[in-house]
Amino acid sequence: MNRIIITGASRGIGYETVLALAADPRRRILALSRNTDRLRELQQEALRRHPGAQVFFAGIDLGQPLPPSFSDMAEELLGGADVLIHNAGLLVNKPFAELERAEWERIFQANLFGAAELSRRLYPLFRRNPQSHILHLGSMGGFQGSAKFPGLSAYSASKAALACLAECLAEEWKDSRIAVNCLALGAVRTEMLEQAFPGYQAPVSSEAMGAFVADFALNGWRFFNGKILPVSLSTP
Ligand SMILES: NC(=O)c1ccc[n+]([C@@H]2O[C@H](COP(=O)([O-])OP(=O)(O)OC[C@H]3O[C@@H](n4cnc5c(N)ncnc54)[C@H](OP(=O)(O)O)[C@@H]3O)[C@@H](O)[C@H]2O)c1
Repeated sequence: MNRIIITGASRGIGYETVLALAADPRRRILALSRNTDRLRELQQEALRRHPGAQVFFAGIDLGQPLPPSFSDMAEELLGGADVLIHNAGLLVNKPFAELERAEWERIFQANLFGAAELSRRLYPLFRRNPQSHILHLGSMGGFQGSAKFPGLSAYSASKAALACLAECLAEEWKDSRIAVNCLALGAVRTEMLEQAFPGYQAPVSSEAMGAFVADFALNGWRFFNGKILPVSLSTP
């Protein structure tokens, strides 16, 4: 499980997950997001903390179709792929009555369609492995029966769909030994949370959640497949 691809690595939970994964120099990590300046800084920070860390990066906008050569790039940089972490997320906080169709599309492209395309394009690499793990980062907002928040209808609906996709792919790809799970996160201190709930102090830091996500991505497939797991201290 040493060849890892993660989206949304330029800040927040994704950034910290890469730093946690980079502690073992045998791991080759491909960090994706739109902001390549931040990804370069992440690469340098990983090397500063863990000399020998193997962090690669590429600029990808999940709102656009992936470049045709994407899986070739993963093959060249990592020599294949064992773990994929769908961490990127876009949150728009706006009353449902004001959410135009274009905004629904932008949110679903970043949170669902981009992840689906990435999984589909990397499937040929995963199916060669004795075991692979695809991890979706959902939200308690998209977890059935949880408390919901005004203004987050499109975001929460996209996260519910991302969670359901994990269940569907786990079934469809079980014979290829590709485990697919979804962590439905509660509040974590990041820019996204500050934007959604200004001033709210979440009980979990991005560093702590990044360490947890890194460990679950590497080991969760041993115990879970097709599961949507709430990871929350504060949301019912
Ligand atoms: N923080 C929380 O309380 C919380 C709670 C529940 C779930 N989550 C989920 O956990 C994940 C990480 O959250 P976070 O709080 O760390 O978020 P964040 O700080 O806002 O970071 C979001 C990341 O997603 C990337 N991204 C957004 N749109 C993208 C696009 N179109 N194409 C490529 N990359 C894109 C951003 O990179 P660029 O801007 O560089 O592209 C950034 O690296 C998200 O999926 C979020 O929904 C977070």
